[in-house]
Amino acid sequence: MSVTDRCNLRCRYCMPEEEYVWLPRSSILSFEEIARLVEVFSTLGVDKVRLTGGEPLLRHDLSHLIELIAANERIRDIALTTNGVLLARQVDALKAAGLSRVTVSLDTTRPDRFQAFNRSAKFASVTEGIARACSVGLGKLKINSVVIRGFNDDELVDLLEFAGEHGAELRYIEYMDVGGATGWSMDQVVSRDEILETLSACYGEIAPLIDQNSASAPAQRFSLPDGRTFGIVASTTLPFCRSCDRSRVTADGMFYMCLYSDTGLDLRELVRSSASDEELAAQIANAWRGRTDRGAEERASMRGRGALYQVEGLRSDPHREMHTRGG
Ligand code: 5AD
Ligand code: SF4
Repeated sequence: MSVTDRCNLRCRYCMPEEEYVWLPRSSILSFEEIARLVEVFSTLGVDKVRLTGGEPLLRHDLSHLIELIAANERIRDIALTTNGVLLARQVDALKAAGLSRVTVSLDTTRPDRFQAFNRSAKFASVTEGIARACSVGLGKLKINSVVIRGFNDDELVDLLEFAGEHGAELRYIEYMDVGGATGWSMDQVVSRDEILETLSACYGEIAPLIDQNSASAPAQRFSLPDGRTFGIVASTTLPFCRSCDRSRVTADGMFYMCLYSDTGLDLRELVRSSASDEELAAQIANAWRGRTDRGAEERASMRGRGALYQVEGLRSDPHREMHTRGG
């Protein structure tokens, strides 16, 4: 569930432009509308919810939404993906409301690079957020790092060490050609195999972890000889569409079954009409059962692969943006 398309950072793989077309405020779902959607999804078997954005902590009183979702007994896991800038001051309230886990996006351990890459001077706020999240004892903290050649590919070891020092597990993410990433090119992608090669040159033999409970999880996990673990999300070079069971709802209620798909189901229209929960559930189930998306696999089989959309394509439908769809 994306709760806002706004963001207080401008990561260059997600929001490289100077200006954006924002979703109209009147179209943004209220917390009650989001909680109702979660309720309907949960009757269809969904038991995990991730709150995302844009930057979800920009949404006023997000803890209240977490309380509403936590009251649903079918939901056994509520996670948050945040850039961490506003995390330190909110983490106590988020935990008290029932948040299970946090993932913080951080691509560099160097403040000067953070400034250049995320266009923000708030590096110290992010590291403070990470430290606070660890100290309040939420579930195992994760750190997401998108790896880009020529920017942070010389920090693979530093990022892993940084995560370890902060009690977090690192996920390296291959740079994806999703909407928003208008500067994407294949030569900037650092593949899973290359990441493993660099890490094993430093740490020694790396073993894959087989976790039967997470066959559908996007990250493949590995362990170092000293037992430390990390993950790699290899969606660009080794797409996993066949086992993916994730779907996304934008802050204005568009339901997408794939990060790459151009079409979705307008749940806001249904929620704001007189549709019953049963009708909503039937439409969602129907859309999901009819799902044929395998966007990342299709992209991987393309010759001369370039950015998915140029800026005009994004302006004509801001739902295509990763920061709208749940970056
Ligand atoms: N490639 C890979 N990951 C991306 N994200 C946003 N844009 C991209 C992209 N082009 C992901 C990052 C970040 C999360 C919020 O969205 O992993 O941690
Ligand atoms: Fe960066 Fe996330 Fe904001 Fe995109 S939504 S600019 S990835 S912090």
